[in-house]
Amino acid sequence: MSDVPVIADPAAMSAWSEAARARGERIALVPTMGALHAGHLALVREAKRRARCVVVSIFVNPTQFAPGEDFSSYPRNFAADLKVLREAQADLVWAPTPKVMYPDGFSTRIEPRGAALAGLEDKFRPHFFGGVATVVAKLFTQVEPDFALFGEKDYQQLCVVRQMAKDLDLPLTVVGVKTVRAQDGLALSSRNAYLSSAERSVAPVLHRVLRSSATRIKKDEPIAQVLDVSRREIDVAGFALDYLEARHAVTLAPIVSRKDGPIRLLVAARIGKTRLIDNVAV
Ligand code: PAJ
Repeated sequence: MSDVPVIADPAAMSAWSEAARARGERIALVPTMGALHAGHLALVREAKRRARCVVVSIFVNPTQFAPGEDFSSYPRNFAADLKVLREAQADLVWAPTPKVMYPDGFSTRIEPRGAALAGLEDKFRPHFFGGVATVVAKLFTQVEPDFALFGEKDYQQLCVVRQMAKDLDLPLTVVGVKTVRAQDGLALSSRNAYLSSAERSVAPVLHRVLRSSATRIKKDEPIAQVLDVSRREIDVAGFALDYLEARHAVTLAPIVSRKDGPIRLLVAARIGKTRLIDNVAV
């Protein structure tokens, strides 16, 4: 099996995409920050179902980290990433340098609203979605894909990117992919590597509580009451809860009863130094 080619130069990236299109082939892009795991690879698999040419971008985007967040310690393992991408039969890795992405004088930022101001991740990471929207728009322009794949694991991010593509008339389809989980239910995440073994054994509580909350809401228990009990359960397990909310699955607007749905339950909580997020459909 030959190595996956890596491109770091925008002109070469553009030529690659143009050549694929000239052959009549479609392109699917999987944007990532590397430290790839089975969750990312599920996106690559779905990408291969949609298009002949699969590009995986690897770029740890500084503008979506606030000072004091884990940008410098974020897990990076380019060699291992290339190996799993070869096995997954990705066609190209687009790995721009920070200088290519943000050359001197760079001074534009996309400011998403709507789902990006839902009072979920944005409340705790106010810089985050502006950074994500700007880098994702740049990746779309650089790669010019027909499809772009994003995980439901980062549900608010998926909603924000989908809305941005629509609002800016970007000529591609944003595809959401189901969350890949460990056997005990914990959503796979590059940040799980930060968990101590004691924290790792508590971490699946989040998904368990989400599932039991969804079941009780489906049985018509009042949403506020279900969330109250569930918030306490998460607390008692040893997490510091940022939020547990029931929201409209598309707009992320607050929901008071089932008839306002479809409903998505979203949670973020810290255990030790690690912040975990998860969500489920009701
Ligand atoms: P990153 O955290 O590397 O995630 C890349 C993609 O993989 C995202 O779409 C994310 O939702 C998806 N993903 C992560 N864990 C998953 C899991 N367990 N199951 C399914 N999909 C999963 O998200 C980002 O990078 C960045 O914000 C990015 C979009 C690349 C912009 O910088």
